[in-house]
Amino acid sequence: MDLQHSHGDNPHTSNAHPPEKHHIHESQLDYSNEPTPNRALSNFIVHCHTPFNAEPQLPLLINSGQITPADVFFKRNHGPIPDIALDDHKVYIGVQQKPQYYFNAESPAVEWKQVAMHDIMTKWPKATITASLQCAGNRRDGLAAVKEVKGVIWGAGTASNAVWSGPRLCDVLRDIAGVSSDMLHEMIRDFHVAFEADDHVHEDVCYGSSIPLRKAMDPVGDVILAYEMNGKPLSRDHGFPLRVIVPGFIGARSVKYLQKILIQPQESMSFFQRKDYKILPPWVNHDNVDQSWDTAASLAEMNIQCVICTPTEQQVVASSKPVTVKGYAIAGGGRAVYRVEISMDGGHTWEPVDKMEQQPDKKSGMYWAWALWEKTVPRMNKSTEIIARAYDSSGNVQPEFPIWNYRGVMNNAWSRVHTLPIPQHHM
Ligand code: MTE
Repeated sequence: MDLQHSHGDNPHTSNAHPPEKHHIHESQLDYSNEPTPNRALSNFIVHCHTPFNAEPQLPLLINSGQITPADVFFKRNHGPIPDIALDDHKVYIGVQQKPQYYFNAESPAVEWKQVAMHDIMTKWPKATITASLQCAGNRRDGLAAVKEVKGVIWGAGTASNAVWSGPRLCDVLRDIAGVSSDMLHEMIRDFHVAFEADDHVHEDVCYGSSIPLRKAMDPVGDVILAYEMNGKPLSRDHGFPLRVIVPGFIGARSVKYLQKILIQPQESMSFFQRKDYKILPPWVNHDNVDQSWDTAASLAEMNIQCVICTPTEQQVVASSKPVTVKGYAIAGGGRAVYRVEISMDGGHTWEPVDKMEQQPDKKSGMYWAWALWEKTVPRMNKSTEIIARAYDSSGNVQPEFPIWNYRGVMNNAWSRVHTLPIPQHHM
């Protein structure tokens, strides 16, 4: 075992099989122990209480600054929030070399190693990454306006940015799963790292997802096993005691309440990898969706996104003075947000924003954090449409109109806000 970068003595591992999981019917999910008192409910538009799905008001989100506090950060759950005791929590790590059908009860597919939370927190160097999470369903309301979609009808508030800390997944896999460079050479093309949560959801036995092994092991991929958010232990809402943070990827891959990590020769079989979070083709609808999942790729990197946060839609603005437009932009996959531009004439002409701030990661140089930008536009004495769009460093730009898909994911159409003048009788 190569522990040359280790903090202290080797992590204590033992062979132990992860607990068996069973499917629970939706009506049996237990929501009696939600962290309700810890939720600053007035900060949020709550779309659903059980499971808890809430996004902040856009002015609050943008005025909270570069780092989103936990009580403003959006919350996306598929089931009850588990109540896990730090000292009892174990993470199970394994490698499955061949697909499941090669194995039987006498020769089990995986030899699992069990690692205690305490070891996760102390045996590897603590990496700190500033990264935005964005739900693939962010701005689903724009696609729902085109045609019916399936999913929580989110506005543009399911994007936030935080500082995450914990060991690098590549270090843990190298030391515990024995991923050597020879092994990596063989596996890099097809293998994935699948994550499972210690929770219950109705769609599957637990929440789960996977990422390609090359992202997990990439020294500049910056995937971490986070036990801290903004310098504090994760809150239950955000994955206590441990979650994976997969920067640059859609939020769905950053599995909370992390319990199992398995290197395997194909993507996760989880519902959330195979039957969700895909851009289905435009002819797929409620009637033919069941046969269509395999026709689309599972989403991984985010696309280029930019949202006007203030003023808000239908906001009344004073016509006597200029208005400062503020928003965020995110480029997926570690790409930089290259330019944000504003149009006040329906997209005929564009001007760059006045100010934009996006910091690359200090070590890897990758752009995992969002860019906050602002622009002061001339006074508006009539109803006005303000449009924003962003380019990333690969030249990707947002489309003019929403591109409808049944699951309502990855909407990154131009962001448009319509302001109203102060009514005459108020002047
Ligand atoms: N992990 C678990 N265990 N359960 C979940 O429902 N939701 C995923 C991901 N990880 C989810 C999960 C989705 S879709 C998103 S967008 C992010 O968590 C949201 O993270 P947050 O609630 O900390 O904002």
